[in-house]
Amino acid sequence: MGNVAVIYYSRTGNTKAMAEFAAQGAGSVEGVKAELADINDFPAEKALSYDGIIVGSPTYYGSMAWQIKKFFDDSVKFHGKLSGKVGAAFASAANIGGGNETTISGILDAMMIHGMLVFGRHMGDHYGVVSIGAPDERVKEQCVDLGERTARLVARLA
Ligand SMILES: Cc1cc2nc3c(=O)[nH]c(=O)nc-3n(C[C@H](O)[C@H](O)[C@H](O)COP(=O)(O)O)c2cc1C
Repeated sequence: MGNVAVIYYSRTGNTKAMAEFAAQGAGSVEGVKAELADINDFPAEKALSYDGIIVGSPTYYGSMAWQIKKFFDDSVKFHGKLSGKVGAAFASAANIGGGNETTISGILDAMMIHGMLVFGRHMGDHYGVVSIGAPDERVKEQCVDLGERTARLVARLA
């Protein structure tokens, strides 16, 4: 019925832990296959094989890590071919107000320029999940939910 890739960059493990929870949530939806991938092992072309893509990044100076930006820049080769796929994002930062939301916003902007379908959340983290340092229980619940809702949308669109 569909598949979802959870792609992340993580230097000290916080974003990776969030990605694992999101993949757990996506994989819990019947008929949807979830895959977890380090951005370093995920060439941009690979995104073409998925119905949904969830991207996570640490916040670096209020923006996504260059590895994630490179992924999007590389995707210009097949611009238009991600149109209609589902997208979501999450980010980790050191500080409250440290730029988590601007990082998420940058990722969602790139997805929208691709014509991807992105969605919000009326409670909790509206744009995508944010974590200050290592994910706590709240972040865990939101990441699992982000994965689940992405996978449910993928299944509905199939
Ligand atoms: C180059 C660099 C820039 C950073 N910039 C910010 C920042 O602008 N705001 C912030 O709150 N944290 C910033 N941080 C902290 C990281 O976003 C934070 O430690 C994050 O949880 C790391 O994620 P990771 O464990 O997945 O690598 C920065 C860290 C580095 C190495």
